[in-house]
Amino acid sequence: MGRLTGKRAIVTGAGSGIGRAASRRFAEEGATVLAVDLNADGVAETVEGRERMSAETGDVSDEAYVSGSVTNFVKQQGGIDIVFANAGISGGWMPLADQTPDYWENILRVNLIGPFLYVKHASPHMVAQGHGSIVCTASVAGIRANAGVHPYSASKAGVISLVQTVAYDLAGTGVRINAVCPGLIETGMTKPVFDMARERGSEDRIGQINPMKRAGRPEEIANMALFLASDEASYVNGQAFPVDGGLSASHPYAMGSGQQRAFKKAGE
Ligand SMILES: NC(=O)c1ccc[n+]([C@@H]2O[C@H](COP(=O)([O-])OP(=O)(O)OC[C@H]3O[C@@H](n4cnc5c(N)ncnc54)[C@H](O)[C@@H]3O)[C@@H](O)[C@H]2O)c1
Repeated sequence: MGRLTGKRAIVTGAGSGIGRAASRRFAEEGATVLAVDLNADGVAETVEGRERMSAETGDVSDEAYVSGSVTNFVKQQGGIDIVFANAGISGGWMPLADQTPDYWENILRVNLIGPFLYVKHASPHMVAQGHGSIVCTASVAGIRANAGVHPYSASKAGVISLVQTVAYDLAGTGVRINAVCPGLIETGMTKPVFDMARERGSEDRIGQINPMKRAGRPEEIANMALFLASDEASYVNGQAFPVDGGLSASHPYAMGSGQQRAFKKAGE
């Protein structure tokens, strides 16, 4: 028996990175998975040659698409047990003074309105069947500053608020909703960061400010999504979980700083 045997799942942003790792993992654990992405080639590659997986090209910020896709899935599968609303964009970097409402809207539409649309259209089916698990991808950027551009951080803080508030709409229904907050993970989104570090020969400095002293892998986020999606998390609801090597556990400090040495000396 897999950890998701018999479950029916939709995973978005499944054409790359975290969504690819999670959709494959869900299927390996026995779920029937619809892998959704804007990138047709990416999502086709995700499902190629894999059991219980199918691919669909769609825009998670388009309500007509999300509504139609969820309805079709439920018709075909007879229900829906899991949504992993994971698709997102970074928005790159832009100084505050140059940002426009369009720039903000584009990021908010994908990162925040996308998950909202899946909540809106999938949760009634879950409520009707009396169970279901929705997992959304937020970010450590939604917890504190300096992990993304302003609208990216605001969108991810919005996702955390979405899971907290929706948990109360779903009270007493048997449907749970949670978020995962990745730290720095090597994916399509962060490729430029890793490429630049490799070019400069400073790859070993990536992830050094978290106590694991390394970046994360998509599979490490997929593992948390799997747990939250599964019945193992049956009493876990309305929460946002950092999976960041410990990055968000600390106030800012410099490892090996004078303060640290002084504490150590005082304790000797
Ligand atoms: N990589 C990190 O360090 C990191 C850290 C924190 C949070 N996240 C979040 O993780 C999630 C997954 O990102 P990733 O790191 O795997 O990046 P990625 O770029 O590798 O994957 C994101 C996928 O989402 C798809 N996508 C983008 N807009 C879409 C849309 N409108 N409709 C459908 N699909 C769309 C892309 O085509 C891509 O395949 C995102 O929500 C991202 O914000 C990533």
